[in-house]
Amino acid sequence: MSASKLIRPCVDYKDSYIEALREYHQEERYLYQDIGVLDRDFDGFVKDLACEKGYPHQPYQDWVEPMPETIVWMVKDDTYIGTVNIRHRLNWHLEKWGGHVHFIVRPTMRGKGYGRKILHKAMPIINYIGIDNALLTICPNNQWAINIAEQCGAVFEDETQATDKFPAVKRYWLNCT
Ligand SMILES: CC(C)(COP(=O)(O)OP(=O)(O)OC[C@H]1O[C@@H](n2cnc3c(N)ncnc32)[C@H](O)[C@@H]1OP(=O)(O)O)[C@@H](O)C(=O)NCCC(=O)NCCS
Repeated sequence: MSASKLIRPCVDYKDSYIEALREYHQEERYLYQDIGVLDRDFDGFVKDLACEKGYPHQPYQDWVEPMPETIVWMVKDDTYIGTVNIRHRLNWHLEKWGGHVHFIVRPTMRGKGYGRKILHKAMPIINYIGIDNALLTICPNNQWAINIAEQCGAVFEDETQATDKFPAVKRYWLNCT
């Protein structure tokens, strides 16, 4: 059995990723990723993820500048565990709500320490991309993610107020140097 590691998205994890996507769909995440489409063309999906143009999901493209992002997966043996999205720069929307980094662990793998591992292992990659201080934005009631951010050294900045469209988020800076 090998240790968990971060890798670029890879076709070898097709079955495991699709299984995880079913779990994410149950909690209404990644609904824009269609299981049938991915099943038919997983190679194309992985290729698009690797192109760093922010595909497949750039929300609010009609009113904010799209951002390149690097996507990495945490895997262990032949199992997909979670994803980290690293946006290379902030636009005004990411600066207030989205942040540089989003990390997620598939529901059936939560509570086993992978959340902390995924962010910790992502820090040198974030820095390699050229980001010294990464902005993390976390919903105030997401105590799990707040614990992880603080354990990785993130420093609280402030709380963005909720608007009609977006919830309040706590903003943290994570030094990745
Ligand atoms: C936040 C998230 C990544 C945590 O992943 P995880 O693998 O469960 O995290 P860990 O197992 O490393 O646990 C992290 C902390 O949460 C706590 N925790 C985990 N599961 C818990 C549970 N079921 N009940 C209470 N606390 C729990 C752990 O005890 C740990 O805190 P501690 O170190 O002080 O004990 C995961 O819940 C997730 O993917 N959520 C959806 C996406 C998200 O919110 N991303 C973060 C915003 S960018």
